[in-house]
Amino acid sequence: MSKKIKVGVVGYGTVGRGTVQTLISNATEIKRKTGLDVVVAGVADLHITDKNDLYLEQVPLRTTCADELIANPDIDIIIELIGGTGAAFDIISKALKNGKHVVTANKALLAMRGTELMALAHSMHFNLMFEASVGGGIPVLSVLQNDLAANHILKIEGIVNGTCNYILTRMEREKLPFETILADAQKLGYAEADPSGDVEGYDSVYKMIILAYLAYGKWVDVKDVERVGITQIGLAQIEAAHVAGQRIKLIGSVEKQGDDIFIAVKPKAVPLESVLADVSGVFNGIEIVGDKVGSLFLQGQGAGSLATASAVCADILKIAGTLK
Ligand code: HSE
Repeated sequence: MSKKIKVGVVGYGTVGRGTVQTLISNATEIKRKTGLDVVVAGVADLHITDKNDLYLEQVPLRTTCADELIANPDIDIIIELIGGTGAAFDIISKALKNGKHVVTANKALLAMRGTELMALAHSMHFNLMFEASVGGGIPVLSVLQNDLAANHILKIEGIVNGTCNYILTRMEREKLPFETILADAQKLGYAEADPSGDVEGYDSVYKMIILAYLAYGKWVDVKDVERVGITQIGLAQIEAAHVAGQRIKLIGSVEKQGDDIFIAVKPKAVPLESVLADVSGVFNGIEIVGDKVGSLFLQGQGAGSLATASAVCADILKIAGTLK
């Protein structure tokens, strides 16, 4: 019988719920494909007593205190899904120092303190993995890090915020006001707790910084990124673009010139016949150009509970595969 790999999930919000659901409901599929028994040993959430569903009921340890999971010697991997840059930093640091591998979806924290956290993971000889931090369910980090490892990356460009793309798509198709659609994006679990991070472009900035790190091994400072969000985009502008054969998208780009890395996030009118124009709703689409592979394009659900959980589980299974 294979060893059970035990995970502790910190944060039972949109992605935490999706992750627990996926690990429990697809346990047989996971076992068949990987030979792994991955068990959710505990869930910590400040409001755990308000949460209840048929998956959470099956988790033996439910607590308000993340430290209970971090201190538990049976738990192999801590999954940080509370977001933000305060408590999340402490949880990840403590977990690594306490001999746990860590999986996170926390793009803001990585973009701001990735240098420290990666150094800590490296010095402790534990993994810190973050596939779900960029592109929701799209395995873009794995592609950059593993499959394109033999390439010099010449360019990365694309749509990396599901909320903004969902808003722009529905504004164009349904002529609804920005605020109405943003409220729907919040209800659907696409937007961040504070959605200004999405619509002002910060969320895309963090994600482009992570992509640049994987492509070039350097963390670009948030303040060095050119950033314009979508809050100034109105129906008239969307309509004018359409008449001109274009569609407005929030586009992130990374380019390397010599030793300098340039990242920008801003709305752009792209030709209607381009692949980026066809990326609609909550979907993300990312073009990567490598010197050997040429151009490739990845597209998939960029936000939402289960799509993002798929990426969290991919990291869990990679780590678990080294522990069995
Ligand atoms: N708020 C993010 C988005 C969630 O809309 O893309 C996924 O990172």
